Amino acid sequence: ETRAIRASFFDITRTVDTPQQLPEAARYLEDGLMLLDSGHIASLTEWEQGKHLLRPGERVLDYRGHLIVPGFVDTHIHYPQTEMIGAFGEQLLEWLNRYTFPVESQYHCAQHAAKMSAFFLEQLLSNGTTSALIFGTVHPQSVDALFAAASKLDMRLIAGKVMMDRNAPDDLTETPEESDRQTRELIARWHNKGRLGYALTPRFAPTSSPQLLEKVQQLRGEFPDIWLHTHLSENQQEVAWVKELFPEHDGYLAVYDHYQLTGKRSVFAHCLHMEGREWQCLHDTDSAIAFCPTSNLFLGSGLFDLQRCWHQDVKRGIGTDVGAGTSFSMLQTMGEAYKVGQLRGYRLSACEAFYHATLGGAQALDLDRYIGNFARGKEADFVVLNPAVSALQKMRHANSRDIWEKLFLLMTLGDDRNIAATWIKGRCVWQRAQLEEHKHSV
Ligand code: GUN
Ligand code: FE
Repeated sequence: ETRAIRASFFDITRTVDTPQQLPEAARYLEDGLMLLDSGHIASLTEWEQGKHLLRPGERVLDYRGHLIVPGFVDTHIHYPQTEMIGAFGEQLLEWLNRYTFPVESQYHCAQHAAKMSAFFLEQLLSNGTTSALIFGTVHPQSVDALFAAASKLDMRLIAGKVMMDRNAPDDLTETPEESDRQTRELIARWHNKGRLGYALTPRFAPTSSPQLLEKVQQLRGEFPDIWLHTHLSENQQEVAWVKELFPEHDGYLAVYDHYQLTGKRSVFAHCLHMEGREWQCLHDTDSAIAFCPTSNLFLGSGLFDLQRCWHQDVKRGIGTDVGAGTSFSMLQTMGEAYKVGQLRGYRLSACEAFYHATLGGAQALDLDRYIGNFARGKEADFVVLNPAVSALQKMRHANSRDIWEKLFLLMTLGDDRNIAATWIKGRCVWQRAQLEEHKHSV
């Protein structure tokens, strides 16, 4: 078991209320030493200050030339949609009918679910994502397969079966009673098993009847430490449809709020077309947002207002939203978040982007006491980045001046090629083949 690692390290040491506080909260050690203790962070120091902590003759894993950052936290993703990423031509509602529902129908088959779960987790790990909040399908076997695969890797994942009882094909809908019963069984089987967590997952308001939402409300009341994961205000037609379906409520979020589905462990994906009182409601209830830039651009949904999110003091993380999102790479997703900022006149720094992708995302999921940075005692989930792999990256890396430029280049030019290894709870669970030759004692 590895106890000592020498590399460059970057993390954000505490959660912040404004982006202006971020540079001070950031920590960069060009030549650092991390010590692990049974899967947790024991210490992180400068090599020169820390090397006396090593036992005589102790083996040190040498990752010099690499940058280690906390494992990425993907706050919104659909594992069954892996196989339909990059589907041409539609915006949200047509895209669901034409591409999404047919693919999700296949997850009644446990073998298919197991095969795709393995592929999906491999995609997360090879992109440096160590934690995620994940949609299954309506079939409980979809979630059983995913949790079974994740528990073997001891990943900190949160997932849930979709709850859906209208406005979708027959083979993907259920009665509120079935939904309630199957959800209870899954909670009993998986919630708080090791590092796994369960999320109540009503797809979104249009596929939920009032009776279904009542069941979700009841479950939430009974299991207060469970998560709530859904979509909110992604697309203008969707928002108009919710107003038609729920005329008695004062807007989209008011539907969820009425059934007490807002709150500390509630995560709403997208939030693009929000009214002032909806922002206020997210703040007042301590709910969180998953900002999904590649998805929002790909489906033409809209441009997230990150600046407003800070002003309203709403917690947020970054989500890939595969398969409406176009990449599993959180680096690429951060790069697209920057471009969304550009279109809105907001300057997203690399420091801020890495914050959202690590500690900020962990806070949005209420997991920041376990993961998100290298504070002593946290679980040792991290990514070993190779800052420059392609000829272009190497050229730009060589003429970049400081860590901020290097981080910005990683999110602008980087992708899965830059992931050298991924560690979960102090164990290397994935590594790029050619890395082997670099591993030796110092
Ligand atoms: N809204 C309801 N379902 C979905 C989905 O599967 N993907 C996205 N992006 N939005 C949704
Ligand atoms: Fe989604």
